[in-house]
Amino acid sequence: MRTLIVVSGGDAPGINVALAQFVQDTQQSEGEAWGAIGGLPALVQGQWRALSPADLWPYVGLAGSILPSSREPILRDESAQAQARRLLRERGVDSVLLFGGDGTLRYVLPLLLSWGLPCVAIPTTIDNDVPDTDYTLGFDSACNYAYQAVDGVLATAHALGGRIFMLETLGGPTGYLALAVAHGAGAHAVLLPEYAYEQDWLAARLRAAAQAQGFALLVLSEGVAEARTLADTLAQRVGMRVRDVRLGHAQRGATPSHRDRTFARQAARLAHQAVRAGQSGIVVQRGAGLELVASLSGQRPAPDRALYDQINGL
Ligand code: F6P
Repeated sequence: MRTLIVVSGGDAPGINVALAQFVQDTQQSEGEAWGAIGGLPALVQGQWRALSPADLWPYVGLAGSILPSSREPILRDESAQAQARRLLRERGVDSVLLFGGDGTLRYVLPLLLSWGLPCVAIPTTIDNDVPDTDYTLGFDSACNYAYQAVDGVLATAHALGGRIFMLETLGGPTGYLALAVAHGAGAHAVLLPEYAYEQDWLAARLRAAAQAQGFALLVLSEGVAEARTLADTLAQRVGMRVRDVRLGHAQRGATPSHRDRTFARQAARLAHQAVRAGQSGIVVQRGAGLELVASLSGQRPAPDRALYDQINGL
């Protein structure tokens, strides 16, 4: 039983843990695990190598992915598809393990399945924006990284009062990550790309928080349209110093948390059992348990509006 592993799209903390578990389980069941060295382009170009548990051990505690990824949508091209199919057949690949976010799960998985190849996918993105699963690998680590940043910022907020701090998370065009961080951090306000807000309201809310507590904390997602100019606008409107902290890709490089390591191992075990049984699908979390679903059903509902309103005092 030979499985090719492909990491596609944005990396996420915990991928190396899942790789280590899958490769170890594969070796124990006397199978072979190969890795594509560069996402889907590497799949198409045949840049693969055999993986052993010893290759993975030094990296399990690190974010990123020891198997390089790519965002190049090379499989849109029919000649690339044909080349990939030929290589998979010629090199005796029995199954594929995919790591990726919404796009990978929605478009690449069905394509590989249409070639008659068993394929299992593990949702990986710090954005937690994939439908049908409560959880995507990397989200918890990214939240924990943000809390460390908040705690650092609050040290100054308490020591040097009279400021507004803006903390910008990643999240692409979605606000699930920013909402979770704002809630956990006890922010005075949160801005998400999905919900419009009035600048007068925001200025009044932050001014009141600063007057009551000596500082104000605003958390926003990078996808908020005004994110780049908001600090200056707010400073003028509120008449206070506004400091802008952007977590950027450092957040995606967060140390894998306990939850992500646990999820990664459970998801990899389930993926291994599935490929051994010739099954296909996406590993999803429903409540406390993991299961396999055939495909993504639709779009994920917008971030929890009640929680958004609660944080913002609406
Ligand atoms: O993978 C999701 C994500 O980390 C988003 O949060 C972020 O906007 C995006 O990827 C960044 O992508 P890239 O690394 O390609 O700039």
